[in-house]
Amino acid sequence: MSKRLLTGLQPSGNLHLGNYFGALKPFVDLYGDYDSHLMVVDYHALTTIKDATVLRSNIVDVVKDYLAAGVDPNKVILFKQSDVPEHTELAWIFECLVSVSFLELAHAYKDKLAKGLEANAGLFNYPMLMAADILLYDTDVVPVGKDQQQHVEYAREAANKFNLAYGETFVEPKEMILEGVGVVPGTDGAKMSKSYKNTIPLFGSKDEIAKAVMGIVTDSSGERPENVYAIHKLFKSDDELASLYEANKGSYKILKEALIEDIETLIAPMRDRRADITDDAVRDILRAGAEKARARAGAKMEEVRRKVGVTI
Ligand code: AMP
Ligand code: TRP
Repeated sequence: MSKRLLTGLQPSGNLHLGNYFGALKPFVDLYGDYDSHLMVVDYHALTTIKDATVLRSNIVDVVKDYLAAGVDPNKVILFKQSDVPEHTELAWIFECLVSVSFLELAHAYKDKLAKGLEANAGLFNYPMLMAADILLYDTDVVPVGKDQQQHVEYAREAANKFNLAYGETFVEPKEMILEGVGVVPGTDGAKMSKSYKNTIPLFGSKDEIAKAVMGIVTDSSGERPENVYAIHKLFKSDDELASLYEANKGSYKILKEALIEDIETLIAPMRDRRADITDDAVRDILRAGAEKARARAGAKMEEVRRKVGVTI
């Protein structure tokens, strides 16, 4: 039997090239080798998104993004967290097993406090909902970015605590850190990130991509425009780029135009595929996925309820 894999997607809107090379592409290259579950974590998103219209459209968008990037809904259980109430149910049981001081060590919570902000209780309990996400499906591997490593440790700890208290029930999952191509730099050379406003949109129009590329910061001191080259490397080998950059030394505009074309060659087919996916198709896929996920999660929860003593 193939090993079980599960990961969660934040419905956070507009993806950029960093997300593609750091998360979408590595996932698409990997999931077919496992019994895979891909879940939109809409209840996790409620810890930050307070606008129903935004949340609704972000959920649909992230599903379209993954389908366009190459996820085949027939080869993965694709669903959203809120459609499977067993997630929040199991989270409660874990919350009754772990201590407040243990949850206080979570980076996401500590960072919020360090910024002088008040964390909501949902954010505080976030790691236990994520533990439930993972453990409900007897997940072996959890592909995530490095920032999520601690959360997978929390899931192992929750499994451990439950198994100790009630007997062997949950598999201890392992993180699989998605390195992708490492850190994708933005138009200013720093890590590409929405919060730095240095992104190149993944599914933007050609004009939007061109505008972002033309805005890549260059200086005339070096041999070649390093910020352009660093992004170009994601699309072409060093060998291919060597002759292009040699032939166009100093012609930054030509090099940027070449980069725009190379981005377009990769993106255009995905963008076209994405445009053909209707909101109704997304709803149908999520509904079918939720049915499969509930069959698995429901069976697991029956065992859990029996073990903790609420089934009489
Ligand atoms: P974020 O919404 O910024 O948390 O990004 C979601 C995921 O995309 C992360 O877990 C990373 O795996 C990936 N990612 C985001 N930005 C970059 C980047 N600049 N380079 C590589 N991967 C990235
Ligand atoms: N916390 C993850 C993130 O911010 C999302 C997530 C929720 C997740 N549940 C999960 C990831 C379960 C992997 C497995 O990216």
